Amino acid sequence: MLFCGIMGKVDVLTISGLHVMLKQNLLINSTKQLLGQYYTTTDPFNNSGAFRSWYQMVPKTTILEPFAGAGHLFSYVNAEWHGYDIEPNHPDVEYRNTFEQFPTGYRVCVTNPPYLAKTVVSRKRLDALVWKNPVILTHEDLYLDALQLMLDNCEYVAAIIPSTFWNQRLFKDRLYAWDKFDMKLFSDTDAPAGVAYFVPHRVEHTRTFVNGEEIVLTSDNTPTKTDFHVRFNPRDLAPILVNGIDTNTQNNIHLRMLQDNDVPSLVNSTGKCKPTNRNHFPIESTMVKEADLPAINAMIDQWRDETMDFFLTSFKSPMASGKYRKRISFMEVRWLLWKFYMPVEKVSQNPLESALYTL
Ligand SMILES: C[S@@+](CC[C@H](N)C(=O)[O-])C[C@H]1O[C@@H](n2cnc3c(N)ncnc32)[C@H](O)[C@@H]1O
Repeated sequence: MLFCGIMGKVDVLTISGLHVMLKQNLLINSTKQLLGQYYTTTDPFNNSGAFRSWYQMVPKTTILEPFAGAGHLFSYVNAEWHGYDIEPNHPDVEYRNTFEQFPTGYRVCVTNPPYLAKTVVSRKRLDALVWKNPVILTHEDLYLDALQLMLDNCEYVAAIIPSTFWNQRLFKDRLYAWDKFDMKLFSDTDAPAGVAYFVPHRVEHTRTFVNGEEIVLTSDNTPTKTDFHVRFNPRDLAPILVNGIDTNTQNNIHLRMLQDNDVPSLVNSTGKCKPTNRNHFPIESTMVKEADLPAINAMIDQWRDETMDFFLTSFKSPMASGKYRKRISFMEVRWLLWKFYMPVEKVSQNPLESALYTL
């Protein structure tokens, strides 16, 4: 009895200790997320053609790092730096809430700002912790607010930001180059990112890079909306399947014939095709023939090589090779099929008709 009593006490103590530890961990993780404290542990600058070209134009004065954290970026660019952070983690980084009081008098700014989507704040109830980072979001994400401040206050800005930046409209007028990184740049998050390089003046054309290597985007390799007739996820399925996602180990986006063992995961309880399928989805088209699939797949591979997957959405988990897995969108599949089946002469010779195709 005595033995059981002592054990019971120990259990209660251990459990309440664990409870406190769990609560503390939760608070630490929420704070980390609220402050976007994911440090840059891979150097995105020194092997990048985008950085080299941009840095040639940049005046060699003190660089501002307004969200400096542990000062990782200081070691990637040999210059004089001034770093600030709401939670400094380096002896040369000064305490400051830079959203409230942005440092002025700097011409050049290089940083990886905090990322935090408005939707995440409400979904994860981080608003209860807002005193940790008292910032009112103007844009949909904290990194866009940071970009606004940096561009309003500095002439030259290099910012490591989420790869989804390319597909939205803001701040493109001063965007000199966009370097998409197909590898993990941070210590403890898989979030795909790129580096945006800004200049003080309006640019006519933004240069595009992947992992520091320049890629030339043309009307021939840039997906656009087309009216190629294809239905995705038709209710009664269809004989051709798009395998729309890479595996954990290799590129695997391709078209193939649907097999019986594909069906259970594609249909709902009534046996009809789920309209929400995105990783694997059947397509219905009178044009697409089984005999054409090898050539269509070769075209997909060639496009992926030529553009280094610039357009494909990166999936959070990287493959063993360090590259991100990719997923193809309905729009990209429709465009690839249009490219394959629409004879070049037809599209280019009749401007009215070609305008129709690209609507
Ligand atoms: C993504 S981390 C990047 C740190 C560093 N730039 C790097 O590349 O390793 C973002 C940093 O912003 C800081 N931060 C978040 N909110 C801030 C605020 N209101 N004022 C200043 N710094 C802030 C965080 O503490 C964190 O260190």
